[in-house]
Amino acid sequence: MRWVQHASTALSETVFAIIVNGNAVGSIGLVAKDDVYRKSMEIGYWLGEEFWGGGIMTEAVGAISDYGFDRFDIVRLYADVFEWNHASVRVLEKNGYVFEARLKRAVIKDGMVTDALIYSNLK
Ligand SMILES: CC(C)(COP(=O)(O)OP(=O)(O)OC[C@H]1O[C@@H](n2cnc3c(N)ncnc32)[C@H](O)[C@@H]1OP(=O)(O)O)[C@@H](O)C(=O)NCCC(=O)NCCS
Repeated sequence: MRWVQHASTALSETVFAIIVNGNAVGSIGLVAKDDVYRKSMEIGYWLGEEFWGGGIMTEAVGAISDYGFDRFDIVRLYADVFEWNHASVRVLEKNGYVFEARLKRAVIKDGMVTDALIYSNLK
């Protein structure tokens, strides 16, 4: 929901649709941070379930990470991942993101409190 809210209000140059055969099947984008965090952006993404496992998001995360460092004056990209989301962790690791922190019992999803993992990619 947080991502949907961001995507509906963000600058078009930070949010992209993922298109397969002419249909939008997912989204990926970067969220700018401000004040003392302004040299960082947070990456977020989702893909329709029927397209999982085909390497789409690995390619998309690589492309938008390159885009973010080229286009914006930042030194750090990071992702905030539910600890059980092994596919997302794998996508990040395959693109050079490194485990940085575990935020214990930081998030709740479907009624279950869980840890959040921070993965970062530094310029
Ligand atoms: C997470 C998500 C983005 C992955 O997208 P995808 O296009 O299926 O990812 P890819 O096919 O590029 O790569 C998935 C990798 O995770 C691995 N993987 C998938 N399920 C896994 C699991 N349960 N445990 C460990 N690894 C897993 C795959 O094997 C693959 O790695 P490999 O290439 O080394 O074999 C997609 O599942 C999604 O949109 N989920 C819902 C939204 C979400 O979780 N967004 C991210 C929030 S941080």
